[in-house]
Amino acid sequence: SKKMILDLDTGVDDALAIAYALASPEVELIGITGTYGNVLMDQGTRNSLAITDILGHPEVPVFRGVDHSSTSEPGSFEVLEISKFIHGENGIGDVEIPDSPRVVEQQDAVDFIIEAAHTYGEDLIYVPTGPDTNIAAALKKDPQIAHLIGSIVIMGGALTVPGNVNAWTEANISQDPEAADYLFRSGANVTMVGLDVTLQTLLTYADTAKWRALGTKAAKFYADMTDFYIKAYETTSPHLGGCGLHDPLAVAVAVDPSLVTLLDINMKVDVDGPTRGRTIGDEQRITDRTKTMKVAVAVDVDRFVGELMDRIGAL
Ligand code: BDR
Ligand code: CA
Repeated sequence: SKKMILDLDTGVDDALAIAYALASPEVELIGITGTYGNVLMDQGTRNSLAITDILGHPEVPVFRGVDHSSTSEPGSFEVLEISKFIHGENGIGDVEIPDSPRVVEQQDAVDFIIEAAHTYGEDLIYVPTGPDTNIAAALKKDPQIAHLIGSIVIMGGALTVPGNVNAWTEANISQDPEAADYLFRSGANVTMVGLDVTLQTLLTYADTAKWRALGTKAAKFYADMTDFYIKAYETTSPHLGGCGLHDPLAVAVAVDPSLVTLLDINMKVDVDGPTRGRTIGDEQRITDRTKTMKVAVAVDVDRFVGELMDRIGAL
């Protein structure tokens, strides 16, 4: 089977992404690397350890990643108030679950990614659902891996719709536009799963009630945590009628790309213009025959939400 690495700023939808990956027989989750965003990197790795435990998968190793953007100082990152509002102070909807007795690995995320790229090559799928800081650092350290890793499927960006931080940028890209731009231009096989599709895929209280009814500790945790997130969306995006399934959609596309319609396009990120953080077609590479990126522009909503309910419900 394919090997998957998740790179997470473990908030609510990142936690849904973990469950989706673990519930997908098509892939083996070989590790979770930590990034910052919804929470501090250390809180994210703590959440990832606790969540893999509660899902009965303590074999999944968790690695510490870079804790700050590629243009800032170590330790300088501060969680935004809006992130706390959407994901809770602890990132998982302020639901209390026991800390894992396990600890993070000795090896750091960047070295783990490089090693996995050399070990698994084409069979490796790397899925960042936070800022792209770790993969950019790995690509800088070992540029070869751009052509080794089978596919990189990111949650981030917005091509055809406005951003969610402001009119032009999406949260993950906005945290480290330079890192995303580096990844987009690296020549790696990158698929962008952005707000164009993730804001079409929603979950409601009726869905989480089905998990709660399963009666297991994990299902109750997922229901309570996701309800916090749905409630936040009622305030921030009342027109949607549910919460955006950003990160689990990226995992689902990594597992089965036929869930979305993909546009072949070479992308870049605005790093120094007035729309810093905007993901847009790269005019310098518009005539290139080789397109290194794909952007999801449409999604089979019913099939994806059905898969998510079935897979997470079966855990
Ligand atoms: C993305 O930002 C984070 O808050 C979410 O976890 C998701 O990865 C959505 O813009
Ligand atoms: Ca995320």
